[in-house]
Amino acid sequence: MSPDQWDDLDSEETVEAIVEALRVGGHEAEFFEANLSLIEALPTYQPDICFNIAESHWGDSRESQVPAILEMLRIPYTGSRVMSLALALDKAMTKRVLHFHGLPTPAFQTFERVDEPLDDDLTFPMFVKPTSEGTGMGVSARSVVRDEAELREQIREILIRYRQPALVEHYVDGREITVGVVGNLRGPVARRVPGDEDAPRITAGLHFLPPLEVDFARYPVEEGGIYTGRVKTELADDFHFLCPAPLDEELRIDLNWYTAAAFRVLGCRDVARVDFRLDRHNNNAPYILEINPLPGLNPRISDLVIEARAEGATYAELINSILLHGAARHGLLPKGIQLNWPTVRLP
Ligand SMILES: Nc1ncnc2c1ncn2[C@@H]1O[C@H](COP(=O)(O)OP(=O)(O)OP(=O)(O)O)[C@@H](O)[C@H]1O
Ligand SMILES: [Mg+2]
Repeated sequence: MSPDQWDDLDSEETVEAIVEALRVGGHEAEFFEANLSLIEALPTYQPDICFNIAESHWGDSRESQVPAILEMLRIPYTGSRVMSLALALDKAMTKRVLHFHGLPTPAFQTFERVDEPLDDDLTFPMFVKPTSEGTGMGVSARSVVRDEAELREQIREILIRYRQPALVEHYVDGREITVGVVGNLRGPVARRVPGDEDAPRITAGLHFLPPLEVDFARYPVEEGGIYTGRVKTELADDFHFLCPAPLDEELRIDLNWYTAAAFRVLGCRDVARVDFRLDRHNNNAPYILEINPLPGLNPRISDLVIEARAEGATYAELINSILLHGAARHGLLPKGIQLNWPTVRLP
């Protein structure tokens, strides 16, 4: 097992903070471990709705396992549903969908064997990472490969360590921005974006949090200007960022639009975070790296929480806003609550 195997699981701190935030929001809340005991425990507890953050342990669609159980039990839950969670966990599949809709994502190829021939349209440097992990698992400065030998070595390492295909992408050299979003697209919005550049950019119903930029200048050079697993775990308590990221207005609007478009074509619900890189060699052109429908919600250090705070919302307000968007979709919204941002103001 790779030493970072469980790095994407949530800490007790996060779980306790969410339960407490829901209570501050005036709800009765209990924590349930995301395992098979849910099948008996939840029908006994009879929740109105589950606040889902389950990452699960095994399987290529593991983030959709608990939602699938909840759907079998007919219990409502917050956040994206089974298909979107399964899709987003597979970065290559996600990129195929983004590409189909003309959304910018780095050129790529997946490798299931070390010796598969490399596509002609990929050029060095490239970036090698596991197809279906999070929290920077398998990502280090060595993920950037400059020649054939380094490429094959990294592919080999990913295949052996993570027992899944390696995703090889064009390396986007430049700033790193992540955009959080809370809410749901309003009205009859199809799960596709029109290819027409001049088509209206529909974003109504989504609230974009201020963009966060990882401040690579303040990290050791060994991290290579990458948001590595080490930066996300060992160094996480001393996170260096700029929020709101200093961006031109036009670029900020483009990033919000790509966030809405990715949210839309993946069919996300209630909350998500989209990770971008800006290509310094091409006028800061943005590329979507991935979409996180279960973004980290650690009360101190998660990107989404920092973004909400930068806009003056407390942790409890963020958590309860996500909850109420989920509740609204299930017809459970308490009377008199408007779904604006934040949905509730709490002490
Ligand atoms: N094609 C690329 N070009 C440049 N850097 C990249 C590329 N792909 C990934 N990275 C770097 O690696 C980091 C982790 O990649 P990615 O966001 O795909 O993985 P993750 O582990 O799923 O992240 P998360 O913690 O957001 O779930 C990025 O934040 C970025 O710094
Ligand atoms: Mg990421």
